[in-house]
Amino acid sequence: MLRSLASLARTASSATVPTCVRSLHSPAAVSLSSVVPTSTAPGKSPRILITGSLGQLGSELAKMLRAKYGKENVVTSDIRKPDVPEDGPFKYIDVLNYQQMEALIVDHRIDWVVHFSALLSAIGEQQPAKALQVNIQGFQNIVDLAKVHKLRVFCPSTIGAFGPTTPADNTPDLTIMRPTTIYGITKVHMELMGEYYHNRYGVDFRSLRYPGVISAESLPGGGTTDYAVDIFHHALKTGEYTCFLSEKTRLPMMYMHDCLKGTMMMLEAPNEQLKQRVYNLAAFSFTPEEIAEQIRKHVPLKVAYRPDFRQAIADSWPRSLDDTNARQDWQWSHDYDLKTMVGEMLTKLRRHYPAVGKQ
Ligand SMILES: NC(=O)c1ccc[n+]([C@@H]2O[C@H](COP(=O)([O-])OP(=O)(O)OC[C@H]3O[C@@H](n4cnc5c(N)ncnc54)[C@H](O)[C@@H]3O)[C@@H](O)[C@H]2O)c1
Repeated sequence: MLRSLASLARTASSATVPTCVRSLHSPAAVSLSSVVPTSTAPGKSPRILITGSLGQLGSELAKMLRAKYGKENVVTSDIRKPDVPEDGPFKYIDVLNYQQMEALIVDHRIDWVVHFSALLSAIGEQQPAKALQVNIQGFQNIVDLAKVHKLRVFCPSTIGAFGPTTPADNTPDLTIMRPTTIYGITKVHMELMGEYYHNRYGVDFRSLRYPGVISAESLPGGGTTDYAVDIFHHALKTGEYTCFLSEKTRLPMMYMHDCLKGTMMMLEAPNEQLKQRVYNLAAFSFTPEEIAEQIRKHVPLKVAYRPDFRQAIADSWPRSLDDTNARQDWQWSHDYDLKTMVGEMLTKLRRHYPAVGKQ
């Protein structure tokens, strides 16, 4: 469900922040034959904590995990109040507070942590000190708790973990990573620290480098790819959109369905299938003018281009990702392309903008 139409309108009209991430092959990880087993017995449902669960991804993944593992086995948490009542246990958890998280992990006998709390790319550039704190110290607390309490930890990385010196087309898993945003720097740190805890202490760390994620059900939280969600709301509300990236800016993107599918596959994969701890995840790439053209096949839309500070961030990111390793190692595949994603987004969002008719 959308957070609320009020918050939706607020976010759609005030896009401010971007995001990125990634992780590497680790020869040591490949040779490590086993990781320390988590506390989940075979056949028993894992107990899962999601941090930052009220964000774009957490609100969607929580529904999927609760449907699969049971409402009571998935504890959602954030530092703000849910807009709508949660469908299971919800706790106030600040990821900077180690003791508070440890108490929850012990009290609820948590096995897996999905760590979504972060400041994304655009917000990170506006608040670099806070981004450093939340993204680096927050992850450090999580990975230390994972070591002590034998947790499986999933923490996403992003295309923002790459930088201007990274090969921009078909960017592979293992390549140059010299990001120029604070967000990217914290995500490279997260990848490397997760791999270090895996290699050194056997922590069951897993990560995926997501492209920009597009969803009709939840709003983005301040990334450089947010325009690809905002544009739908503006098309349906006013038929006009001012894009903060230039018309030719090509970036890797993915529909939420595929992001959730890949995340569930990575979260549940037997350790023997994982030949590395961080994988690229890809679906398709497009430019603002290409998505606008697809949307115009359904509704009228005028787009003006007024690039802001996010253009420089986007220009430092890859145009497309190579996710061959994920496809080979754990049989990842995506279901949606640009055309099918646009059709489904408009069908779903029309419910929130009933005044807009079909062409
Ligand atoms: N959405 C995307 O397109 C995208 C792309 C690549 C990677 N990612 C990654 O996926 C993860 C989730 O992204 P999202 O889009 O859901 O982000 P979001 O901004 O929508 O949500 C992040 C949540 O973290 C919470 N938070 C912030 N500080 C916190 C703290 N100190 N303690 C606890 N919670 C705190 C916020 O309240 C928010 O609800 C992030 O790690 C992000 O880097 C997202």
